[in-house]
Amino acid sequence: MKNIVVLVSGGGTNLQALLDAQDRGEITNGRITCVISSNPKAYALTRADNHGVPHEVIRRRDFTEFEAYDSALTDLVRSKNADLVVLAGFMTILGSQFIKSFENRIINIHPALIPSFCGEGYYGLRVHEEALKRGVKVTGATAHFVNEVCDGGPIILQKAVEIKNGDTPETLQKRVMEQAEWKILPKAVDLFCNDKIKIIGSTTEITE
Ligand code: GAR
Repeated sequence: MKNIVVLVSGGGTNLQALLDAQDRGEITNGRITCVISSNPKAYALTRADNHGVPHEVIRRRDFTEFEAYDSALTDLVRSKNADLVVLAGFMTILGSQFIKSFENRIINIHPALIPSFCGEGYYGLRVHEEALKRGVKVTGATAHFVNEVCDGGPIILQKAVEIKNGDTPETLQKRVMEQAEWKILPKAVDLFCNDKIKIIGSTTEITE
């Protein structure tokens, strides 16, 4: 059974999707054992409470030096014996110590079809604003491993979502979450927990 630690910063709907999938028995061979938030007011913490999942808060602003923050987050997640770290709307930049310590064991959900609308500055609603501005007709979500390149790690799963006339960043965000993020993130976690993701260079192969 793999220990899953979920990192959050906000509403936590992706955390909820993971908890619900776990309750439905759709995440086998893994269990969410801890939620860590960068924001003490994140609603995600209430969701963790409602599920009886222990949680912690670690704020970037409590550390002057970025390296000290990177070490503290690494130590905290190590102390939870994490086999898998899931970034479910985690809005703080990760340091190289953290990324190296959990190499090939960090999964992120990004609200676009990477390599579109990703990288520095592309997070949350901003991603959907840019997709609408560019006028793409299809967007979606990507579950991927995290490496030192922002949104650049091996892609695990993607799902496309149509853009509709009259979409606003908010309506698009909701559709991308419902139709893509909440489906592919639990699926990617289940695949990982069952050793069904093989990393081949910058790509992955899923063995079902
Ligand atoms: C989600 O749309 C997630 O994909 C996005 O933030 C939102 C968090 O919502 N993450 C990023 O943009 C990361 N680059 P949630 O707190 O309700 O899961």
